[in-house]
Amino acid sequence: MVKQEWIEKGYVDEKVPEGVELRSEIRRLCKDKNAVILAHYYTAGEIQDVADFVGDSLALAQIAEKTTADILVMCGVHFMAETNKILSPDKKVLIPDLNAGCSLAESCPAEELAKFKTEHPGYKVVAYVNTSAAVKALTDIVVTSTNARAVVDSFPKDEKIIFAPDKNLGGYLNAVTHRNMLLWNGGCHVHEQFSIEKIVELKSAHKEAKVLAHPECKSGVLALADFIGSTAAILTYAEQSEAKEFIVATESGILHEMQKRCPEKNFIPVPPTTGPCACNECGYMRLNTLEKLYNTLKYEWPTVELDESLIEEAKRPIVRMLELSK
Ligand code: 13P
Ligand code: SF4
Repeated sequence: MVKQEWIEKGYVDEKVPEGVELRSEIRRLCKDKNAVILAHYYTAGEIQDVADFVGDSLALAQIAEKTTADILVMCGVHFMAETNKILSPDKKVLIPDLNAGCSLAESCPAEELAKFKTEHPGYKVVAYVNTSAAVKALTDIVVTSTNARAVVDSFPKDEKIIFAPDKNLGGYLNAVTHRNMLLWNGGCHVHEQFSIEKIVELKSAHKEAKVLAHPECKSGVLALADFIGSTAAILTYAEQSEAKEFIVATESGILHEMQKRCPEKNFIPVPPTTGPCACNECGYMRLNTLEKLYNTLKYEWPTVELDESLIEEAKRPIVRMLELSK
């Protein structure tokens, strides 16, 4: 029985009884309920270790489309769980904490994008996957950081395009595809915080290190990067590179998988501009804890629910992206 207090909090706020070994109980619940756990690279290492699949937003969407599980548990943020629901509407989609939002998705409310569209007739709308289902429903095609360049390249050179919501990714795409897409003025509070000064300091202390950056970083950070790519592309680059040290400008959860794949290499997270922290964490991703994951599987709540008509509208641009990414 879901308590009113939990509904108000957005997660199952129940202490796990003493003696319960969370990891083995989570795995047992998954087996008993035919559930799979999908985790993004930005979640804490212990979440990634207990998951069935760990990936970037594109890989997780591709798994959600194909899985035969009855329940999907999305350890990531809300728009990722929505994408799973859109692709697998007949499955139960769970998220350990409904408060796991995304500052980038929030920077683009659907009503404002709808108004912007009417002010710019004749424009196609390309939206980053970090958007609500209502925003996706307004678009022609969705992109992730892995396929954004290929998707934009698939449009004729003279196509008029609105790109939303990330102005940094959009600016980067404009530069590499030689276009002039109209950019929505949105950004991610984690990636916009990386300190250029601290990267310069780290570079001079680690002369051989390669700088790896996610395209959501500001252009000043991207200008210092040896490689710019999605979380999955950054991982592959680190694995294949001859370099032994890397300065990493993206959410520091990714260091868990980097260190696993390359135990002999050194990964240094870039700190934010302010504060004492040595790395930059996404507070939303970190709302996923083992305790909440256990409770969400136990009570099969919180679920992600969307109207059937919204699912239909939002599915079209996602499926179009997945078709182009095969
Ligand atoms: P990826 O598409 O690289 O997984 O990134 C998702 C995200 O939220 C980046 O901040
Ligand atoms: Fe959103 Fe930024 Fe967190 Fe990614 S890192 S989920 S873009 S707030």
